[in-house]
Amino acid sequence: MSILVTGGAGYIGSHVCVELLSQGYDVVVVDNFSNGKYEALIRVKEITAKEFAVYEADLLDNKELEKVFAENDIEAVIHLAGLKAVGESVRIPLKYYHNNITGVLTLCDIMQEYEVKKMVFSSSATVYGNPESVPVAEDFPLNATNPYGRTKLMIEEILQDAYISDNDWSIALIRYFNPIGAHESGKIGEDPKGIPNNLMPFITQVAAGKRDRLNIFGDDYDTHDGTGVRDYIHVVDLAKGHLKALERIMYTKGVDAYNLGTGIGYSVLDIVKVFEKTTGKDIPYIIIDRRSGDIDKCYADPTKASKQLGWKAGKNLEDMCRDAWNWQKNNPNGY
Ligand code: WQD
Repeated sequence: MSILVTGGAGYIGSHVCVELLSQGYDVVVVDNFSNGKYEALIRVKEITAKEFAVYEADLLDNKELEKVFAENDIEAVIHLAGLKAVGESVRIPLKYYHNNITGVLTLCDIMQEYEVKKMVFSSSATVYGNPESVPVAEDFPLNATNPYGRTKLMIEEILQDAYISDNDWSIALIRYFNPIGAHESGKIGEDPKGIPNNLMPFITQVAAGKRDRLNIFGDDYDTHDGTGVRDYIHVVDLAKGHLKALERIMYTKGVDAYNLGTGIGYSVLDIVKVFEKTTGKDIPYIIIDRRSGDIDKCYADPTKASKQLGWKAGKNLEDMCRDAWNWQKNNPNGY
């Protein structure tokens, strides 16, 4: 029996594959390599000394996807494949809806055909929009404020309806906060295309001399130092959370959402300071205007994941900064 990882060549996907293989699971990866790189999977094999099947396929291609299920004995699916840039989703929303929504519908159709009804789905804290208060719990109001977030929310609702129509489904909705860092080997990590949208890859590119300085988007937010506060979580902790969710759906039916965050909020300036202290690298910055759509603060109440999954983030901000820099230092131009 194998675990199918869609988007397995991506930043989160490659780290999830390392954890699965290290725990003895058989893994099958499907990726269209529109964002993830095949090299990442070669590194996964180096790290784990394990072999696994890789299919270059798009979830929209149901013939290719069907082949994966016909050729492998799939027990459950960890569904990570999808477009995920907030800003881009505002510019090309129809591509995001088609890719993310039609992709999951095609996947679920084939899963049903092959009687595979266990899924861990990569959702996002962005489904909470601008929360009324923090920390954020899973029963908080859901209110996505951009097309990317709306695709995540819609998919959560699609999966809930799939379960209501057929109680054989077992689904875990994993709401990521802000994943950063990299595997300690420095062989796999975050490799954004073009100018990084997210904070940490931008910082590591400044540290590597690829960018002159960090632009901090606003310092007039309602936070301790005016810069945005987020819940940064080590990508390896996040990957381990997927395995805990996978274990749970093996014996429970139904749909449950889990916040995977540390429960600690750090501001942009906190991140800069800890990164500089941890790595010894200077990160020059200027404060510029707010980025549209950004919120003041968002961090998790991770109690439910702790109680129901037996999962808790173990790595601290120093670990995240050290490992993020180790990846960038060893791979100045990414894969
Ligand atoms: C973090 C903080 C910025 C870049 C997004 C998505 C979320 C998830 C993670 C996919 C904010 C500030 C950032 C920069 C800055 N993605 N910042 N200068 O926006 O919290 O979350 O990425 O699942 O769904 O919404 O992450 O890293 O972009 O920003 O000042 O160059 O850093 O304003 O306060 P965000 P981020």
